[in-house]
Amino acid sequence: MQTDLHELQQVLLGRIGESVTPRDVLRAPEFKELYAKIPSLPPEERGAMGREINQLKQAVEAAIDRREAELEEHDIQQIDVTAPWEPGDAMPQLLSTEQGTQHPLTKELDRVIDIFTRMGFQAIESRQIDDDFHMFGALNFPENHPARDGYDTFRTEEGFIPPAHTSTMQYRILSEGKEKLEAGGQIAAVSYGRVFRNEDVDATHEHTFYQCEGVFVSETASLSQMLGTLRSFFEAYYGQKLAVKTQPGYFPFTEPSLEFMIEKPAAIGGKPGEWLEMLGCGMIHPNVLKTAGIDPEVYRGFAWGGGIERLVMLKYGIEDLRHFESGKLQFLRNFS
Ligand code: DAH
Repeated sequence: MQTDLHELQQVLLGRIGESVTPRDVLRAPEFKELYAKIPSLPPEERGAMGREINQLKQAVEAAIDRREAELEEHDIQQIDVTAPWEPGDAMPQLLSTEQGTQHPLTKELDRVIDIFTRMGFQAIESRQIDDDFHMFGALNFPENHPARDGYDTFRTEEGFIPPAHTSTMQYRILSEGKEKLEAGGQIAAVSYGRVFRNEDVDATHEHTFYQCEGVFVSETASLSQMLGTLRSFFEAYYGQKLAVKTQPGYFPFTEPSLEFMIEKPAAIGGKPGEWLEMLGCGMIHPNVLKTAGIDPEVYRGFAWGGGIERLVMLKYGIEDLRHFESGKLQFLRNFS
């Protein structure tokens, strides 16, 4: 019996060494046969036999573990990190892990940025921690003005602010673009990224969400250019002609300030006259230009800013904003 078992062990180890699915060897019919033999042995031999079979099994399992580690190592080495790969190519499927996908917000934000970049805007990611000056001061919010309260800002103990809107990037875009302007060019930039507000969370409010902001400055920038730009953007994003309108709004950093609305397209369940407010916009306030070192007597600009989630929810008929940050795979798989 001993030599039988020894021979069997050699055979099984040989099989493991050649298999790409070595764990299958544990289901080898020889094991079943061995166990089936035990009852036919004299009672005094059964215990010893059981122990020997268990030892065999342990040796086999150890060999499987080693072989699996070896295979995994081999898989990793198979991935040629220098191989050319273009977005859109199939991913190499060498590892047997479940393949992930981009988060829908990342994907849609890419689309938004792509449209503006094709229109000639430079894209800049916004910061995730900022200060009072960029959040309020540079944007013409007077000290202790009630408009500051409208933003429900978080604040660290040191007084830093996780930005409540991407407008915190305006001062940087303007002051860095000044030279370009004076050389006869124009400033055209979008900034995008996460923003944070101390909100009670519900189906339409999140403490963390995404915004995209645009800034354009030249000697002749006008409201009609802004409306044309925004209309082109929304029509490109939704892939159809849209009815648009504005209504008066209030932001300390624009004068006049407007809210930009689109009529909800019939193709996604809109009824005629169903208007949706998509973003805030306006002509950049002369004080904002002046603070950034740009002469408002010579240059003028327009700006806008709005949430990304709202765009995406409308596009796909998503009803609850909380799904985006929930990590629910069932929701995320709808977009893979
Ligand atoms: N920052 C504003 C908000 O979050 C939106 C906004 C309004 C941005 C007007 C702008 C603007 O750039 O010009 O409510």
